Amino acid sequence: MTPPLVLGIETSCDETSAALVGAEEGLLGHVIHSQDVHAIYGGVVPELAARAHLGRVQEVVEEALKDAGRELSDVDALGVTVGPGLIGALLVGVAWAKGVASSLGKPLVPIHHMEAHLFGPSLEDPTAEPPFVALLVSGGHTLLLYAPEWGKYFLMGQTRDDAAGEAFDKVAKILELPYPGGPAIQALAEEGDRKAFSLPRPMLRGNQSIGDKDYYDFSFSGLKTATANLISKVEGDGVLEERRADIASAFQEATVDVLASKTMRAVEETGCRRVLLGGGVSANSRLREEILDRLGAEGELLVSSPRLAMDNGAMVAKAALFRLDQGDVGSQEVSASANLPFPGLIPRPSGGFHPGA
Ligand code: KG4
Ligand code: ZN
Repeated sequence: MTPPLVLGIETSCDETSAALVGAEEGLLGHVIHSQDVHAIYGGVVPELAARAHLGRVQEVVEEALKDAGRELSDVDALGVTVGPGLIGALLVGVAWAKGVASSLGKPLVPIHHMEAHLFGPSLEDPTAEPPFVALLVSGGHTLLLYAPEWGKYFLMGQTRDDAAGEAFDKVAKILELPYPGGPAIQALAEEGDRKAFSLPRPMLRGNQSIGDKDYYDFSFSGLKTATANLISKVEGDGVLEERRADIASAFQEATVDVLASKTMRAVEETGCRRVLLGGGVSANSRLREEILDRLGAEGELLVSSPRLAMDNGAMVAKAALFRLDQGDVGSQEVSASANLPFPGLIPRPSGGFHPGA
């Protein structure tokens, strides 16, 4: 059998994307259409997202196929994000993929959006394979995993409230920066002094030990509130305009410090010095720089270029190649789910990891 060619479809949030990935050839064609209708609302409006996907999905797939110089009939399987995400948005991609898979008589592979982010770096770097510690940071999720192999993911920690990207977006909104907030905060922070203000590092204390419940977990809602309070105070002092960059920088620094510190805890416990970053926030250059710095010369950072760090169909197709190989093929019963459990997720062993033991 010739190595399969998979069409990946992503419509879980505000990017309509399709890509053609071959098991042997890699990424052959890729189109990402970012919806701009949400910018004026300062956040994604679910109903508008679903409608915009509906108007675009066919065209995006056609363009991706054209980009690859292939036809729909060349495709061996379809991979589609079935969750988690905005239900209306997900349904558009799932319904489209189901219809096409059934008319072509090709398998349909249901894909978990966050597992797809794990496959992002491997599209550009063939060595981006397990084992690795993965920090998945997006607009809806913050997950710290240890992956000894594809499909087997130990859950080290996760957010108890807001996701890291959500905190970036909310602070950006208070600072009257455009949506999405992450890139805007990063750009503004570059002009500021990261030590100008000291903001809290939630769930990060020097006296924590491995057995503590919050040793690996995250919380960003308190940091968002502390930043909002700082903004009100600075505004009250009449100096907000000249301190905006300092505030953005201090907020980014606190977020990066917590993310990098918890990631390094997982590195220490597992003894695995390979760190994979995935999800939109992984495009943050301060986060990359800090983790690289803390990993040191013997460590390895596995990351995507910013285009493949954001939501895209290529990572979905790459994840689908793995799931197809495992025989995890869906049927016409496949449905979208806003809160889909992560496949292959297992609790961290209660006794912990003992590298070298
Ligand atoms: O993975 P993603 O594209 O979509 C979701 O699955 O949610 O992540 C989007 C999130 C947004 O919150 C956005 O503000 C954030 O990623 N983001 C960033 C950066 N680029 C995107 N956050 C910090 N720094 C960035 N450079
Ligand atoms: Zn995402």
